[in-house]
Amino acid sequence: MKTAVLISGRGSNLQALIGAGIDIVLVISNVPDARGLGRAKKAGIATAVIDHKDFDDRETFDQAMTKAIEDAGAELVCLAGFMRILSDDFIKHWWDRLINIHPSLLPDFKGLDVHQRVIDARANQSGCTVHFVRPEMDSGPIIMQATVPVMANDDAGALAARILVQEHIIYPKAVKLIAEGRVSVEDDKALIDGSPAV
Ligand code: GRF
Repeated sequence: MKTAVLISGRGSNLQALIGAGIDIVLVISNVPDARGLGRAKKAGIATAVIDHKDFDDRETFDQAMTKAIEDAGAELVCLAGFMRILSDDFIKHWWDRLINIHPSLLPDFKGLDVHQRVIDARANQSGCTVHFVRPEMDSGPIIMQATVPVMANDDAGALAARILVQEHIIYPKAVKLIAEGRVSVEDDKALIDGSPAV
């Protein structure tokens, strides 16, 4: 399944998708010097910089991305550290074909600065979630999660690193399941091979 990946920065999840042999036809970054662009180029994958600063509003920025994704023939769009809020129109256009990875056990700890908030809340576990994107941020049918322990002496960096290892495992796994046609959505819940995903 031809896949587009949207990034804004480091691109370690992009690297995991590349390493897993996902058929990535385009990597888009809204940040011109995002480190992930170099990873894509090294792997021989087409890249596009679509800088939100060049657009008057979110809608025209999103339309430019949709055009680039469609021109590349992608059928699935993966957000991988993409740091822009997407318009409802973009999300509706790519409904059930747009997925994200978030570094918490959703629905807990949506939004930014996740790891420090998990530590401050004295949670004893955290993790990561792959989900279909819906207009409400960090919501949407959950496809896959992985759990890690939170250690007593963790700082945000240590916890982030432990979770990132799991992100790199579950994101490619989830994309492969979708590519194999094994993921469906019913009543806004994800099913794998017809059974509840989580
Ligand atoms: C990851 O932690 C991901 O869960 C979050 O942003 C981070 C991106 O890291 N959405 P990378 O750019 O993939 O290295």
